[in-house]
Amino acid sequence: MKTKKFDPASNIQNLEQFGEFGGVNPSITDSSTFTFMKAETMLDTFHGKTEGCFLYSRHWNPTNKYLADALAAMEGTESAWVMGSGMGAITTTLLQLCNAGDHIVSSVTTYGGTYAFLKNYLPKFNIDVTFVNASDLESLEAAIKPNTKLIYTESMSNPLLRISDIPSLSKIAKKHDVKLVIDNTFTPMILSPFQLGADIVVYSMTKFINGKNDAVAGAICASSDFINAISDVNDGTAMLLGPVLDPMRSSSILKNLNTLHIRMQKHGENAMYLAKKFKEIGLKYNYPGMPDHVDYDLFNSIRNEDFGYSGMIAIDMVTAERAADLMEAMQVRGVGYHAVSLGYFKTLFSNSGKSTSSEVPESVREGMGMSEGLVRYSVGLDNDIERTWKIIKECLTEIGFI
Ligand SMILES: Cc1ncc(COP(=O)(O)O)c(C=O)c1O
Repeated sequence: MKTKKFDPASNIQNLEQFGEFGGVNPSITDSSTFTFMKAETMLDTFHGKTEGCFLYSRHWNPTNKYLADALAAMEGTESAWVMGSGMGAITTTLLQLCNAGDHIVSSVTTYGGTYAFLKNYLPKFNIDVTFVNASDLESLEAAIKPNTKLIYTESMSNPLLRISDIPSLSKIAKKHDVKLVIDNTFTPMILSPFQLGADIVVYSMTKFINGKNDAVAGAICASSDFINAISDVNDGTAMLLGPVLDPMRSSSILKNLNTLHIRMQKHGENAMYLAKKFKEIGLKYNYPGMPDHVDYDLFNSIRNEDFGYSGMIAIDMVTAERAADLMEAMQVRGVGYHAVSLGYFKTLFSNSGKSTSSEVPESVREGMGMSEGLVRYSVGLDNDIERTWKIIKECLTEIGFI
């Protein structure tokens, strides 16, 4: 039998996290503050000198710790931290790593909110960002300056679904002594960025990890030093800006995390089915699981192969009007919902240029090759994907596209 490179699903399965009274799920600690029998222990806890003591839930909460431990196991990092949103995780990481006067090299194809933060918000702190094509490693390396603190990119870029060459990016980062931060929101389990050489992995758990669209949440997986630094009571970005996750939500996300491997497989299986059908009818599509995708070989060389190629697929309807016609028809016929976000059990679709990437200026979108009519699907867990495809095809015929 072939030995597996890394198995995030078994790492989660191996965890035994019991509830207070032997419950099979860890108990929810529904408290914002915690008592101490000795005044001295409280002071020691403030100074980070105690083990297993909780102080205040913006700092640490036992329920958040269970989820953080499971995420650290999934990534193979020493530690993790959970937050109230993916943007909370991203902004905390960037603000922790950079001081005024520092510089970031970032992929130009990131989630629109991340792009807006880098482009419009960080100048407030005199933090400069150079946007690059993260697949062009030479120009990426050339953009590094003496004051560069980090390279930022997404494992699978949004919405063009390019795959980042994390091992090569890691070599560049190490050579220049800068950190490599990877947003792995689109590919949990499929890619394990820390194993591939990233320093810090960030997530919007709102997406695949939770998978229910009932919560907004984020996570940072990193070394214990980094997690201790962001949670330091005196100068930790997470502690001081306070994007904490509610323990009730942590508890439900932890339960959902335990089914993530099966969901990723099914999302990927369904997206692959649709990709083959799109190809069959000659539609322009983007799916990194198909050999015609520019990053197919790279993806195969770095992915954990049990979890497919992801549920994300994009098609080019050429114009925004055509995209709108298709999406409206698909929603009426029950393919799924015209909504932003991803990783849900139902199929979601949106026109990226008119939604999640609308913060990115039109000229930049053009430069990165993003069509005005790009419809991004987050393919759901449909049991009968053949039926779904039939409806999509009928919709394409109905609007006169095929
Ligand atoms: C790749 C990616 N990263 C981060 C985020 C932000 O996450 P949240 O909405 O949980 O703050 C999103 C949201 O769509 C995303 O798609």
